[in-house]
Amino acid sequence: MLFHQLLFLFVANTIISVSAQSTQALHDLISRRLLPGHAAQFSFSFSKDYKSPTELRNDSYVISTSTSNTIAISGNSLTALTSGLHRYLTDIAHVDIYWFIGSRLHLAPSYLPRPKSPVLGSSIVPWRYHFNTVTFSYTAAFWTWDDWEFELDWLALRGVNLPLAWVGAEKILVQVFQEIGLTDSDIASFLSGPAFQAWNRFGNIQGSWGPGNTTLPMSWIDSQFELQKKILARMVELGMTPVLPAFTGYVPRAILTVLPNATVVNGSQWGGFSPQYSNDTFLEPSDEAFTRLQKSFISKQIAAYGNITRFYTLDQYNENDPHSGDLDYLRNVMYNTWQSLKAADPAAVWLMQGWLFYEKSYFWTDARIKAYLSGVEVDEDMLILDLFSEYQPQWQRTNSYFGKPWIWCQVHDFGGNMGLYGQVMNVTINPIEALHNSSSLVGFGLTPEGQEGNEIMYDLLLDQAWDGSPIDTAAYFRKWVRTRYVGNNSIPENLYSAWDTLRTSVYNNTNLTNAMPKSLIELSPNITGLFGPTSLQRTALHYDPEEVVVAWNFLHDASAVDPRLWDNPSYQYDLVDVTRQVLTNAFIPAYLQFIRCWNSSTGSAEQVNATGAELIYMIDDLDRVLSTNEAFSLSRWLDAARAWANATATAPASPQPLTPSASGTSTSNATSQLADFYEYDARNQITLWGPNGEISDYASKAWGGLMTSYYKPRWCIFVNYLVQHRGPDYNGTELAGLLRKFELGWQTEKDIPRNRNREGESLDKIIEDLVTRLPVVFGKTG
Ligand SMILES: *[C@@H]1O[C@H](CO)[C@@H](O)[C@H](O)[C@H]1NC(C)=O
Ligand SMILES: *[C@@H]1O[C@H](CO)[C@@H](O)[C@H](O)[C@H]1NC(C)=O
Ligand SMILES: *[C@@H]1O[C@H](CO)[C@@H](O)[C@H](O)[C@H]1NC(C)=O
Ligand SMILES: *[C@@H]1O[C@H](CO)[C@@H](O)[C@H](O)[C@H]1NC(C)=O
Ligand SMILES: *[C@@H]1O[C@H](CO)[C@@H](O)[C@H](O)[C@H]1NC(C)=O
Ligand SMILES: *[C@@H]1O[C@H](CO)[C@@H](O)[C@H](O)[C@H]1NC(C)=O
Ligand SMILES: *[C@@H]1O[C@H](CO)[C@@H](O)[C@H](O)[C@H]1NC(C)=O
Ligand SMILES: *[C@@H]1O[C@H](CO)[C@@H](O)[C@H](O)[C@H]1NC(C)=O
Ligand SMILES: *[C@@H]1O[C@H](CO)[C@@H](O)[C@H](O)[C@H]1NC(C)=O
Ligand SMILES: *[C@@H]1O[C@H](CO)[C@@H](O)[C@H](O)[C@H]1NC(C)=O
Ligand SMILES: *[C@@H]1O[C@H](CO)[C@@H](O)[C@H](O)[C@H]1NC(C)=O
Ligand SMILES: *[C@@H]1O[C@H](CO)[C@@H](O)[C@H](O)[C@H]1NC(C)=O
Repeated sequence: MLFHQLLFLFVANTIISVSAQSTQALHDLISRRLLPGHAAQFSFSFSKDYKSPTELRNDSYVISTSTSNTIAISGNSLTALTSGLHRYLTDIAHVDIYWFIGSRLHLAPSYLPRPKSPVLGSSIVPWRYHFNTVTFSYTAAFWTWDDWEFELDWLALRGVNLPLAWVGAEKILVQVFQEIGLTDSDIASFLSGPAFQAWNRFGNIQGSWGPGNTTLPMSWIDSQFELQKKILARMVELGMTPVLPAFTGYVPRAILTVLPNATVVNGSQWGGFSPQYSNDTFLEPSDEAFTRLQKSFISKQIAAYGNITRFYTLDQYNENDPHSGDLDYLRNVMYNTWQSLKAADPAAVWLMQGWLFYEKSYFWTDARIKAYLSGVEVDEDMLILDLFSEYQPQWQRTNSYFGKPWIWCQVHDFGGNMGLYGQVMNVTINPIEALHNSSSLVGFGLTPEGQEGNEIMYDLLLDQAWDGSPIDTAAYFRKWVRTRYVGNNSIPENLYSAWDTLRTSVYNNTNLTNAMPKSLIELSPNITGLFGPTSLQRTALHYDPEEVVVAWNFLHDASAVDPRLWDNPSYQYDLVDVTRQVLTNAFIPAYLQFIRCWNSSTGSAEQVNATGAELIYMIDDLDRVLSTNEAFSLSRWLDAARAWANATATAPASPQPLTPSASGTSTSNATSQLADFYEYDARNQITLWGPNGEISDYASKAWGGLMTSYYKPRWCIFVNYLVQHRGPDYNGTELAGLLRKFELGWQTEKDIPRNRNREGESLDKIIEDLVTRLPVVFGKTG
């Protein structure tokens, strides 16, 4: 038995003891995901060049067969060991763990193959980073511990050692605010609802909206805090250094009632939100109270979680305008913020999302960036995420952030949309080029807005962090496919061909203006303006849609070679996903035909109606396909939101809401009221994104149930209106009003649309039916 040894390691003439628990984490991971007999076949040890989590060195591992015939993985850190384990599992045992599909690790042979010769791996950057502040709202808002446990195993195996950790941040913030005398209602009017916390943390928005004026309850904050304790303990156990929140300066409006002399400024308006929900109050870092609150925040956080990190995430101007563009002002904001961090934790490193320099590049001139960053006088006290390196890198123009350490990041997945896309060359060639050209580059990372598919693009960059030359993507995709479809008799060649076709089409986006693959179906219908360089509410393809049809045919034909694929969860997920893209793309010409027919003087009302009906049928078809798979369902998101009302109501800490709900004359009980609030928030984020459609459809989703309950009725309203209003009868204002009325009503609908696949239709039968009815769409003619 290998588990309970205490390891003594010689490092630079000192003996450090690594508790047995540290390699125990590897065995625990294996026990969680593989079969009972698997754990004993591995042995883990630290190599002589052991590296503590605070050292800035690369990680390395060796996989070999030990003299006692175990699969021996030796590494210089915990993250090296988890990475070595992953290398073994994917490259030798051919199993992995995937988003949505779940863990396939238990499909490894019960007697695991022993490496014939040692396999060596070494990272080329010390840090592998994961998460964007907004991922916590777009994808993880309602995650349970089970979801987190899965995600953390995914991250550990893929070598991530620097994850962002925002969950439950409000717990500490509320305590800090209470300490200076702010009332619970002052605080409650500042905090945003559970699906919008990310933008409140950024200082973009404040308060919550929805029926009943419900505010974020303390029970939510408490149970998120409990969840965070588990997350952090597991992160540390798996060798990760969490990046924790800090005090940013954004405060409740009532701040002046308790700090009458405080220097505060009114922040800018964000995302079209009214000043009621935006224009957050910012306590200037030059004010002595700022440092006081920072020290309070960080000391409370250390008391709650332990001294587990020196990294603090802190963004003050993410999509917010600074109060002044004056160079001294900008420098002082940064200097004082930095000083506050150092006063609170002398070891503090300030991590900042570099998005602002791209998003507001008109404001952030080179001179202003230089002045601002110069406020942190010790370069190593900062770590900057070059957030959008795959398309809009800022490190060159900022001369590697004027020497500050930085991380090359792929942002990807705006709004958590689900279109297939990526740029394989740019996440392999460009980070290596950056490494050769910037001495302050210390990591590669993923900063997705949401985590909603295209997983291969994420794997690719994390694996690039262990390869000094750009990965050969053709070979990489092949290897990836072999592992992904484990569990069949064979891996039909068609599967490789399908993915290679995707590699050279959807994953070879060469048009910079089309970096957001919005689905036309998910946009609010309009007779014009839906196409163009993709932005918040427009659609465009950056590839030939025929290529996706080709990929679809390869994928589909593979099941004829090996029918067991129909029972393979990876195949089910991928076929639904690619079918989704085929139908989504086919919607574009169908829409154009409808508008042409409506515009033409020769198109009869019947023809207009018939071409419009095609659109509706297509949405129904898409919903049918999506409804075969839980991963693509609206109910999964809404049920998860509602379930937190129960979890929070029974949380041990404080079950009381910060402020009683306005509609507190309880006709329904508190749990169901809270569940309604959480469900409203969940619905609102993916549709109107704001009380009045401020960022409507930005976070749209291709989910079963959402297609039929939201997108289809919108297109029906549109088609019906157009059938009845042609030429001068068309009134866009009137139509927009009808659409908005429906959209607003949907926010508080009572029924959660369940999986429509009531007749238990199987995916193969649905596909067969679709191909019969829509042969052209699926490339079956000629
Ligand atoms: C919610 O609060 C606003 C003011 O903040 C008030 O105008 C509105 O009537 C309230 N709505 C409900 C349903 O209580
Ligand atoms: C605020 O400033 C005024 C004038 O300088 C001073 O009299 C007062 O004591 C200050 N109040 C607080 C709470 O510091
Ligand atoms: C909100 O911020 C905008 C600038 O973004 C400013 O024009 C507006 O006056 C502010 N509104 C309030 C009420 O402070
Ligand atoms: C946390 O521990 C590190 C040493 O590992 C130390 O340098 C640092 O000062 C500690 N931070 C605090 C706030 O105690
Ligand atoms: C991507 O497209 C460009 C331009 O057509 C081409 O030069 C390149 O080889 C393609 N790369 C891949 C991986 O398909
Ligand atoms: C890929 O990276 C290069 C270099 O940064 C850039 O010029 C190009 O626009 C990127 N490609 C896309 C599609 O954005
Ligand atoms: C990129 O896409 C936009 C929007 O679809 C289009 O207008 C433009 O012509 C494309 N550019 C290239 C070089 O293909
Ligand atoms: C349009 O088509 C639908 C069904 O396809 C039909 O029920 C409806 O009567 C038609 N309306 C007109 C105005 O032709
Ligand atoms: C809360 O739990 C009860 C009992 O388990 C269940 O009936 C109810 O549906 C749950 N409510 C929510 C919103 O999940
Ligand atoms: C509260 O309401 C929920 C949902 O309507 C219901 O499932 C639950 O049983 C109710 N709880 C109590 C204690 O009445
Ligand atoms: C268009 O509809 C709006 C809203 O229904 C109405 O106020 C307006 O008068 C209409 N315009 C015309 C030209 O009929
Ligand atoms: C269509 O888009 C235009 C321009 O963005 C907008 O003014 C109009 O209200 C929209 N029409 C509908 C029906 O939403």
